Amino acid sequence: MDRFDVMPDRIREKARKWDKTIIEKNFGRVPEDFIPMWIADMDFKMPPELETAFQEAVSRGVLGYTYCYDEFYQAVMRWHRDMHGVAVEKDWITLSYGTVSTIHYLVQAFCQCGECVLMNTPVYDPFDSAAEKQEVRRIYNRLNLVGGRYYIDFANLESQLAQHKPKLYLFCSPHNPSGRIWSLEEMREVARLCRENNTILVADEVHREHIHCGPFHSALALDEGRENLILVTSPNKGFNLGGLKTSYSIIPNGTIRAQFKRKLEQNSVTSPNVFGIIGVIAAYEQSRPWLAAVSAYIRENYEFFRCYIEKRIPQLRVMPMEASFLAWVDITGTGLNSEQAAAALASQAGVLVESGTHFVEGGEGYIRVNLGTQRANVREALQRMERIFNPLLH
Ligand SMILES: Cc1ncc(COP(=O)(O)O)c(C=O)c1O
Repeated sequence: MDRFDVMPDRIREKARKWDKTIIEKNFGRVPEDFIPMWIADMDFKMPPELETAFQEAVSRGVLGYTYCYDEFYQAVMRWHRDMHGVAVEKDWITLSYGTVSTIHYLVQAFCQCGECVLMNTPVYDPFDSAAEKQEVRRIYNRLNLVGGRYYIDFANLESQLAQHKPKLYLFCSPHNPSGRIWSLEEMREVARLCRENNTILVADEVHREHIHCGPFHSALALDEGRENLILVTSPNKGFNLGGLKTSYSIIPNGTIRAQFKRKLEQNSVTSPNVFGIIGVIAAYEQSRPWLAAVSAYIRENYEFFRCYIEKRIPQLRVMPMEASFLAWVDITGTGLNSEQAAAALASQAGVLVESGTHFVEGGEGYIRVNLGTQRANVREALQRMERIFNPLLH
């Protein structure tokens, strides 16, 4: 038996993903034996090295205010050098309280009311709400679907950048919800167009730690383009540490960095959470074998999921999941729309997936299925999906 086959007690942990009240607020009434495959949170026990690091902190007996000590910067720099082949300078790194809140602060720091940000759609919906909440206009460049894979519409992107002069291009890489990895050529073109239009490229790379079909190219690895780049990321998706609410940005340009740091200081986002900083260090410095093992397990989940659907639920189509643990599934062959499919799965089968309509726009006809769980859950969910979509065969 694989260690990731063991389900930790997520009810006692009070995981949002597993809380029935929260679930029923989102999905309506669901059967008692529900299988949550919605929010991007994984059902795996943390690396033992992290557990030890946290226990050591607790055993010291005090949780007073701390600061961004050097081990944090060293861990982030080494991680980028070893895992992503990029040299990061210590000064470029700024700690913050989660990637999503960082995006909110970025919008506040760089956009005035009435200005705009650009994003590809469908996309992780906090990109949209971060702008909406600041009363900043959103421009959507819808991804083109070609042969079951997403492509950036560069002609449209170029004209939107020239016409609207967005302050920020919120760019999800690898892409959530589809798991698409952008090629080096695509990354270069994105960076070139941003540079030419004086738009800051905000690359959200939280999903880059689970790569199934690489290579992945960090925006930091581009020869040109660092001058107007803000990279935001965290170990939260890779190591499932979302509850630590800790992340960081990497901003090579000193002027852009100073403007952003001023906004953080205005909001007193300065000193880290004691466990957050320990989590980043222990994940990056000590938990690499765990990450490789969990990624391999997720990959096997995906292969199992994809093969099962191909054989037994052929009216569904799974987009190649090149990164992450989130499968993007075309459900148009079922005759249902996304919301109907997600609602039927939730109420009749207790399988909780995200409707594609949650991803700003362009996700109609899809559901997103979180495969960061035990294989037994994936198998059971597939059997139930099969019964919902193929009722005549059962
Ligand atoms: C693209 C993307 N960015 C950010 C986050 C959240 O990151 P964090 O936990 O660092 O706020 C998620 C979570 O699903 C995500 O998919």
